Amino acid sequence: MHELEKILSEALNQFAVTENAVELEQVKARFLGKDGHVTALLKGLGKLSSEERPVAGARINQIKQSIEKALQQKREALQYNLLQQKLKAESLDVTLPGRGMGYGGIHPVTRTLERIEVLFRSLGFSVASGPEIESDFYNFTALNIPENHPARAMHDTFYIDEKHVLRTHTSPVQIRYMENNDPPIRIIAPGRVYRCDSDMTHSPMFHQVEGLWIDENVSFSVLKEVLSDFMQCYFERDDLQVRFRPSFFPFTEPSAEMDIQCVQCNGKGCRVCSQTGWLEVLGSGMVHPNVLKHVNIDSEKYLGFAFGLGVERLAMLRYGVADLRLFYDGDLRFLKQFN
Ligand code: PHE
Repeated sequence: MHELEKILSEALNQFAVTENAVELEQVKARFLGKDGHVTALLKGLGKLSSEERPVAGARINQIKQSIEKALQQKREALQYNLLQQKLKAESLDVTLPGRGMGYGGIHPVTRTLERIEVLFRSLGFSVASGPEIESDFYNFTALNIPENHPARAMHDTFYIDEKHVLRTHTSPVQIRYMENNDPPIRIIAPGRVYRCDSDMTHSPMFHQVEGLWIDENVSFSVLKEVLSDFMQCYFERDDLQVRFRPSFFPFTEPSAEMDIQCVQCNGKGCRVCSQTGWLEVLGSGMVHPNVLKHVNIDSEKYLGFAFGLGVERLAMLRYGVADLRLFYDGDLRFLKQFN
């Protein structure tokens, strides 16, 4: 029986110094496994007499149970330690201040578009739109730009196939709108346009806002009045000087390019205006009778004007941005300045 006590205390000692679960299972095998000490004792019972056997069997079982109990306790202790270690490693200081979600912001070009829209809405214009993939009929033909006309080459067009292009301007929305609506018409059509062009002041994708006002007596003086008013409001300068220069667009006659006094140098001459004191901001003109004919509007009864302005250009001038490509680099250090 002395041997039994020895086995028990040995088992308890070995459990005590065990430091991980794998080692523990090995120690267990040494005592309770197939070839373990306790198992060997149980096997030895057969050699005892029938009087000795029950007493010895009971003692061995007691020892076995004690070992099993100690094993279970050690298992739990090891698991607890493991959990404590994990908790310590992944500790979280809930008293630290949060990182903050950060707010999203409106892109400067979107901001400019919204501003242009608000101003024209206040002048009684509503907003229309059209597709960016356009047939060459709407992009050119219906706008009085026949096939083989040099104006088609002028536009550096991206072709989708022989009959479809990425629209080179927002003017096709004029046609689409007039096809489906009778005069009086007073709309703007903001949107993306595409030209194969890229440098400090051009990007292959940019934004235009088209304008169209058709009614019975919308003369060239209304055009001048509306566009001057708009520019003065947009730049928040009541005294902003503007001028109109004769120009050519196949879909307007007469056509005019509009300049504003340079907002950088107030007309004195600087790098932004190439020392001229003036900045070109949009193309405009009285809608050509051929265009009205295409959409069955009686050009004897109705007349009106159209214009197209470049949104990035107005954004650059308002915010003093020298390189248009900055708008599309996605650099937050640049973009955050506008919010
Ligand atoms: N669509 C012309 C362009 O992109 C601008 C324009 C629009 C001119 C309407 C006159 C009238 O250059």
